[in-house]
Amino acid sequence: MDHPPTFIDVKPLRRFGLDKKTVPLIQHIQYFPNPHRVFTELDYFFRQTELMLKQTGTRALAMLRFANIAAREQAQGPGGFVVNKVTVVGSGFVGATVAQYVADKDLADVVVVDILEGIPQGKTLDMMQAAPINGHDCNLIGTNDYADTKNSDIVVITAGIARKPGMSRDDLLKINANIVKEVAEKTVKLSPDAIFICVTNPLDVMTYLTWKTTKLPTSRVIGMAGVLDSARFQAFIGMELGYSVEDIKAMVLGGHGDLMVPFPRFSSVNGVPITELMTPERIQALVARTRDGGAEIVSLLKSGSAYYAPGASVAHMVEAILKDKNRLLPCAVYADGEYGLKDVYVGLPAVLGREGMKKIVELKLTAEELAALKKSADSIKENVDQMNKLLVAV
Ligand code: APR
Repeated sequence: MDHPPTFIDVKPLRRFGLDKKTVPLIQHIQYFPNPHRVFTELDYFFRQTELMLKQTGTRALAMLRFANIAAREQAQGPGGFVVNKVTVVGSGFVGATVAQYVADKDLADVVVVDILEGIPQGKTLDMMQAAPINGHDCNLIGTNDYADTKNSDIVVITAGIARKPGMSRDDLLKINANIVKEVAEKTVKLSPDAIFICVTNPLDVMTYLTWKTTKLPTSRVIGMAGVLDSARFQAFIGMELGYSVEDIKAMVLGGHGDLMVPFPRFSSVNGVPITELMTPERIQALVARTRDGGAEIVSLLKSGSAYYAPGASVAHMVEAILKDKNRLLPCAVYADGEYGLKDVYVGLPAVLGREGMKKIVELKLTAEELAALKKSADSIKENVDQMNKLLVAV
């Protein structure tokens, strides 16, 4: 996206309430070399943007966004940027893939932290050596020291273990809950303004635990699952119909597990509902394959589970947040009455932007769909209760 040299007339800015400090910064900027790097964590500028938006509409919004970049560059010297920072906890398959996609999309500097010595350092060094080829300037570091994660914009939690033969679901729940609790405590202390994305399984339960542990507003604790489950459904629809996956949209809600709820009627190929393009039997087959999407990969890999699509899904959410895109994405979010669900993290359609989860969108569902969603949420609640018993108290 190239922008021609731009001159900002500061008079209207002054009129709309920008203060003495900001106006001269904006005044000096006539050309914005890299508008991709929109750095938005300064709430201040956004408050100003909102003010202007109310008064003059979208043109002012666009202007002020450029001014925002300009002011930051100016404040830090020529070519200086405040780069976003993403911490990924866990340098295993999923964590490393998240780091790689976030950097390859040129979204942020990345800190990968793990208890294993050498693994995060080695993997991020390898990624740094891919950067000249992939063409980004994001800095990636691997570490065993949480101090390096300080002031992150986003914290992604992928630390945990996979279920091993002979291990019960409760064993896994207890081990991962202890890991996630420890990780959440350590990271939130150093990055109290961050938005948390939880990936560790059982995902909806771990997201609830992250929220409880960090004590952050629910808007800043989100679980990644709906994006992945929907991407799987999209991929299967694409394989079935032979159309470009770019044209395929799909919506999968509910918990990330056997009770996920794919919504064929909200799934389409460039606006054409898939119910017009496939028989109900074929749709049901794809729905079933989506539900078993993770298990199908586990059975092929024999050891370990999926990581490319999970990693890409997290990077997609990171992008929506850092670029304040207001994307409508299915994510594990805290339901406080929406869809008749209360006090549970479950996959619902939500708007993601710079403040995290901006709102849950309530779609009109049939009684049958609502029942499926409730069943899914009930099973998550049972797991949360079980986790609480195992942890004694969260
Ligand atoms: N602190 C930091 N890192 C930890 C901790 C801890 N307390 N405990 C474990 N880890 C690290 C491990 O050392 C390992 O590097 O978490 C990483 C997990 O990586 P993998 O075993 O490769 O697991 P992965 O496939 O990445 O999956 C991670 O995401 O999708 C989910 O179900 C999946 O819960 C699992 C998680």
